[in-house]
Amino acid sequence: MPKIVAANWKMNLRRGSASALAGRLARDGRACWLFPAFPHLDAVGAAIKGSQCKLGAQDVSPELDGAFTGDVSAEMLADLGCGMVLVGHSERRQGYGEDAARLLAKLRRAAQAGLAPLFCVGETLARRKAGKAEDTVREQLALLSKLAAVERGRLCAVAYEPVWAIGTGVNATAAEIAPMHALVRAELDKLGLAKQPILYGGSVKPENAAELLALAEVNGLLVGGGSLEYDSLAAIDDAAKSAS
Ligand code: 13P
Repeated sequence: MPKIVAANWKMNLRRGSASALAGRLARDGRACWLFPAFPHLDAVGAAIKGSQCKLGAQDVSPELDGAFTGDVSAEMLADLGCGMVLVGHSERRQGYGEDAARLLAKLRRAAQAGLAPLFCVGETLARRKAGKAEDTVREQLALLSKLAAVERGRLCAVAYEPVWAIGTGVNATAAEIAPMHALVRAELDKLGLAKQPILYGGSVKPENAAELLALAEVNGLLVGGGSLEYDSLAAIDDAAKSAS
């Protein structure tokens, strides 16, 4: 299976720089999954049209339509040509208090609009120090069992992103990642999601990409800071190609 490189651009770049970066990746025949900020989705979508890159959004409303100021609905994203959406990113869980009920509603809404959710899980440093990292991830994944099988089947991937490794420059070690990816794989198997890739995220950079991609059940990478410049993202993508 080809290894996946997904770029979460978070609240970075501008319309011009996002579309220029996307266009260069597309022209180079790269098959990256790109998650730009909402205002850049249209321009990035145009820049990658007809290429192997895919477009995703960073968030989605749990509501269908209506008086929800600031929200963007799944239907709007689908209408724009988005195929995927991040759900459960720790920056949403923690920064915006998104609980399981809200995430479940988002997953349902996304799946019903034909979007493929990329579901993110991962423990905080406190949970890891308390010996609860596995329990946390297992609990987070249990949410998927509440979806109808057809909704669940729309998932494009699960990303394991330990919260303490995000944006810190400290990536998790092989000894931490491998057992967690094995756990995620076992849980996904139980849910009938044997084909869904499992991505690792958290301080991925060109220097550690090959080592991370060599680990069992690391089917790809979800990259934040390391995806904002062409040379860095291209180097990570090259590592993914070599590992595939
Ligand atoms: P960094 O690669 O900047 O640590 O971010 C990871 C992430 O949150 C991707 O979703």
